[in-house]
Amino acid sequence: MGIGCAGRLLSFPGMTSVSAPGKIILFGEHAVVYGRPALAVPVTQVHADVEISDSSKDGIWIDAPDIHLHAELNSLPSDHPLAAVIHKFFAPLSSPHFLKEKMGGQRGVEIKITSTIPVASGLGSGAAVSVALICALSSHLSHPMTNEQVNALAYEIEKIHHGTPSGIDNTVITYAKPVYFVKGQPIEIFRVGKPFTVVIGDTGISAPTKEAVGDVCVLWEADKARWEKVFDKIGEIAKKAKEKIENGESEELGELMNQNHALLQEMTVSSQELDQFVEAARKAGAWGAKLSGGGRGGNMIALVKPEIAETVAGSLKEAGAKNTIITTINS
Ligand code: PMV
Repeated sequence: MGIGCAGRLLSFPGMTSVSAPGKIILFGEHAVVYGRPALAVPVTQVHADVEISDSSKDGIWIDAPDIHLHAELNSLPSDHPLAAVIHKFFAPLSSPHFLKEKMGGQRGVEIKITSTIPVASGLGSGAAVSVALICALSSHLSHPMTNEQVNALAYEIEKIHHGTPSGIDNTVITYAKPVYFVKGQPIEIFRVGKPFTVVIGDTGISAPTKEAVGDVCVLWEADKARWEKVFDKIGEIAKKAKEKIENGESEELGELMNQNHALLQEMTVSSQELDQFVEAARKAGAWGAKLSGGGRGGNMIALVKPEIAETVAGSLKEAGAKNTIITTINS
């Protein structure tokens, strides 16, 4: 079990600050919704940040400048993802006066939410905000939660964002460790035998995961036998990739990324821009590349020798990437 939120919060009297990382899916997106394994890792270069401060003003005030939101909790619809996190956090705390009791002389709180994670781009922005907000509430109101509790609550919010999420985003962000994820099974954190370098390229096109997942579901409904085979192939790739990462044979992941991308193309979740970026990365010397996340836009990833990471990032920029991140994957 273990107390959740460890290592990501700063707490002072009257103020709590929490950060949660973004994430990438290395292998297995979409097939993971159908029970196949997937691998995801945190990306700390981008993060969601939540700061809670005691306030002399009554109520729970939410300030999210990135989305031009400044509102009291009760003025928001209850299914607003930020309001939903707070309502679901308080729901099991039977006393309606919980907040006031915990707050002593104070009357309310101000919750400031910011994020450097691009929205709807496969980097886990929604899950990171949820996890940071849950952890901030838990710490500020001295109501300790386990990782399992944080993860379960964040999953409830993912359902509002995505409809039928596998739960991979909230899991990798809650645990902030590389995870081998199979829907409905206990969390498995995997070891990275030897650190490896990934370049992330952002198309700048926001693409709701819900739509891509819905379209794959339509394909699957029309020909289950065909798509189950495709999902099996992706699941096998994810299993092989985990072995290679644990054994420190990460250069060999490139070919597996290429195979995974081809299957995602077949599933219709790639796009012209993603394919161009994948091609540009390979031409610049990447060992392999694929889209990452829901697809149709958002981000792609390329596996590179550390020495050529900048070159590959430059080629992605030339191909039109709005942003690139170079990240080292380790345990
Ligand atoms: O949130 P995204 O875009 O990284 O997508 C998550 C991965 C999917 O497999 C496409 C959906 C899911 O719920 O697992």
